[in-house]
Amino acid sequence: MTVGLLCALPEELTHLGVALADARATELAHVRFDEGTLDGHPVVLAGAGMGKVNAAVVTTLLIERFGCRAVVLSGVAGGLDPTLHVGDVVVANRVIQHDAGLVEDDTLRRYQAGHVPFINPTEALGHSMDPELLATIRARLDGMVLPALPAAAGGADRPPRIAYGTVLTGDQYVHCETTRQRLVRELNGLAVEMEGGAVAQVCETFGIPWVVVRALSDLAGHDSSLDFTAFAHGVAAISARLVRALVPVL
Ligand code: ADE
Repeated sequence: MTVGLLCALPEELTHLGVALADARATELAHVRFDEGTLDGHPVVLAGAGMGKVNAAVVTTLLIERFGCRAVVLSGVAGGLDPTLHVGDVVVANRVIQHDAGLVEDDTLRRYQAGHVPFINPTEALGHSMDPELLATIRARLDGMVLPALPAAAGGADRPPRIAYGTVLTGDQYVHCETTRQRLVRELNGLAVEMEGGAVAQVCETFGIPWVVVRALSDLAGHDSSLDFTAFAHGVAAISARLVRALVPVL
């Protein structure tokens, strides 16, 4: 089975690109798709650019043009949960598009993307990972020890932790402590990024599995732009490492 591997940024893509063998490049919609093998497994690697629309376009092409039967999104995110540190990894068991909904009384009432309560109501909020796939992933990653990220690199001088939980997606870079706290309070998000919800929505539409793996480059508060610049490249390597462990079991 061919697995689609998607990253938003070049800093994220590079760690998987160097491990790709027998690569054959195709350019489509201004995106480079590299077909090849990763540790012997057929994959197609693509850098989508940031945001939900870019992610949706590239996910669709991976499925429809390149025949991928699962799509994995790898990269960095802002940490929301205060117990997490830069370098920790969040594997999404659920993704929610936190910027979608109905604006009422000058306030966003969150609702499933593509739905409006009085036009096409739905009970759903976000997309949950298939429980069987989640169990497979947990079993595969159980006991995996990641190299400690030194304090100077933003880490906590201890091996990065792998957490499972809700990843929030929006076309917004979160650089605000008040927003970080609100996203935790209202949606119990562990991490925030800009693509996962779109990848999951497209995969669900096509009926194929998705995986979102995010290493924390920053903590989404006031230091987030500085931390992102300093740590994104380094922590993206941690996410790529997990993805390499997961591709064989998908
Ligand atoms: N990706 C990495 N850090 C982020 C943040 N703080 N907000 C949104 N996306 C991110």
